[in-house]
Parts: sequence; C-alpha cells; structure tokens
Amino acid sequence: MKRFPKTSHLMARGAAFLGSEHAILCGAMSWVSERNLVSAISNAGGFGVIACGAMTPELLDKEIAATKALTTKPFGVNLITMHPDLFELIAVCGRHGVGHVALAGGIPPKGSVEALKDAGAKVIVFAPTLALAKKLLRGGADALVIEGMEAGGHIGPVSTSVLAQEFLPALADEHLVFVAGGIGRGEAIAGYLEMGAAGVQLGTRFACATESIAHPAFKKAFFRAGARDAVASVQIDPRLPVIPVRALKNKGGELFNAKQREVANTLDEGGVEMLEAQLQIEHYWAGALRRAVIDGDVEHGSLMAGQSVGMVTKEEPVAAIIAELMAESEAALSRR
Ligand SMILES: Cc1cc2nc3c(=O)[nH]c(=O)nc-3n(C[C@H](O)[C@H](O)[C@H](O)COP(=O)(O)O)c2cc1C
Repeated sequence: MKRFPKTSHLMARGAAFLGSEHAILCGAMSWVSERNLVSAISNAGGFGVIACGAMTPELLDKEIAATKALTTKPFGVNLITMHPDLFELIAVCGRHGVGHVALAGGIPPKGSVEALKDAGAKVIVFAPTLALAKKLLRGGADALVIEGMEAGGHIGPVSTSVLAQEFLPALADEHLVFVAGGIGRGEAIAGYLEMGAAGVQLGTRFACATESIAHPAFKKAFFRAGARDAVASVQIDPRLPVIPVRALKNKGGELFNAKQREVANTLDEGGVEMLEAQLQIEHYWAGALRRAVIDGDVEHGSLMAGQSVGMVTKEEPVAAIIAELMAESEAALSRR
C-alpha cells in the first residue's frame, strides 16, 4: 500500500523509468552531488545523479564505484557535453552499467546518444526549445528535463511555468518530461504532475541536506538567504556570450564581472580565441563553486542557488525532505 497514492499514481511512469520509488530527481550539482548525497537520495526513494563536471575519467570511475558501495538503488551520472573526454566518460559509465546518463550543458555531440545507448544507458537530455526537444527525442533520447530560469546554476532565459506550458501539452502524452527549476514544495510538484510531467528535478532544496558534504558556511548562507538574493549573473561584453548563472549575491559575483572584463581585454589584444575565452569563463565558475562548497569561502566563491533557496531553512536528512515533498503533493492533490 503506497503512502502517497495520488502522487505515486501520477509519478508511476517516471518512477518506472528511473527504477526509483518516487519520480524525484536530485539534479546534479557540481562538487555537491558526490557519493554521499547521491546515495542518500537513492536510498531515500528518490533518484540521485553524480555531477561529473570537470572530473577525469579516472575520478568518475572512482566516484561511481564509491557510490555503488553506498547504495544498491539506481542512480545516474550527469556529463557535460563540452567535456574534452566525453566519450571516455561514456565508456566509464558503460563499464559500471550506469542505467541513466544525463547530457547537460549543450546539444549532445554527434554519436554521444548512440554511444550511451550502446553502453546500455538510458539518455536524459535538456532542451531549451520545443523544436530541439523533439529533435533530440527523435534522435533516441529517452527523457527530457525542462529547466526554468528560477533554477540554481547555469540557466536559460525562460521561467519554469512558461516552459511547462509550452512543453508538457505538446510532449507529455508520448514522452517522459521532468520539470526543474524553482520547486521548493510539494504543491508545485502536484501542479506539474497534473500538467503531465513524469516527475520533477530539484537541486537547491537538497544542496544543504544533512548528507550533503557542502561546507557548513555554504549551508548557513543558504539558510539565511531569500528568493531575491539568488540573482542571475550579467554579461559584460556583447562579444563574449556567457551563459547566465544564478547564485547568491556576494563578492564572488563582482569578481566574475572583473574576470569577464579581463577575458574580453585578452580577446581585444588577440591573445585568445573565442572558444578558449568561453572555456576560461566556465573554468572560472567550476573553481569558484569549489571554493564555496568545499572550502567554505562564501565571500569570494560561487554560491550557486535557485530562487527556492528561501524555502531552505534548516539542515534535514534527505529522507525527511522527500517525505515532506511527497506529503505536500499528496495533500494538494487530495484537496481537488
Ligand atoms: C550548486 C549547484 C550546482 C549545480 N551544478 C550543476 C551541474 O554541474 N550540472 C547540471 O546539469 N546542473 C547543475 N545544477 C542544476 C541542478 O542540477 C538542478 O537542475 C537545479 O538546481 C534545479 O533547480 P532548483 O535549484 O530551482 O531546484 C546545479 C545547481 C546548483 C544549485
């Protein structure tokens, strides 16, 4: 007998696809989504995803093995499409029999979806437009995540509520669509499930769970922050398109603007090509996030966080967060 019958009914397709009890993914968060948080999410009935980020194939190999030692439940791996060793990372996932791989950060390069399928993994993709989503699903992707600009980390320009209205009526009958960005409570989960979502993906709400290795100072900054503190970065130079990042306001945001000016100046002087300039910006983020998450430098590091950060008020075990989300969703569906 399911404890949350209405929610579980609406999540059934998503849960069957993921192999988890609930169709709640904890989105990959670089430095945060490692063995401890990922296994805790999967052990609690959700679906944890390892953030590969800039890891080498050797490091990813170790992280997957360590996660397997902590859970027998399914979990996934998130790979960044622009990683120079993408195909080696895919091979590592294949050797470990990872069931689900998410390809994030851009359009999957030629052959990557096929390589994952050959390795026996189900492929989860992100798409900012309906046309691209349809193309990726036709090309073999098994599921789609739509992520609105309320989310923490790298973001697009459109809100979750608008993406949900654009994508769900068009795709949800035939495809698995998970909704991400700005979800802090179960009532919102209920709403997206009723619109046809197969499940949801949350990041910010899980970042400060008891099992998260994030530094206590990082967690404290989240507990103090409200929605309006989680702001999107601005682009300084029109020639240097940077993907906006949503993070808590701090000195690190100003440092990012200075970094953009520095890279733009080097571009002016012809000291660097455009692609290299963009890579420098991305590396800056990875380093800055590490400083905040691992070292606890909340002044100069990057405190990536979504607008739902105001609903993160205390450290709680993952199981308690998932139970609360499910109970809120169930209560909302029962009122209708
Ligand atoms: C600290 C942090 C780091 C993140 N890093 C990544 C990442 O490495 N790869 C990725 O695909 N998404 C990343 N995200 C996005 C999450 O996977 C997730 O989709 C997002 O947090 C969902 O929105 P929410 O924050 O409103 O819950 C990150 C988010 C946060 C808060």
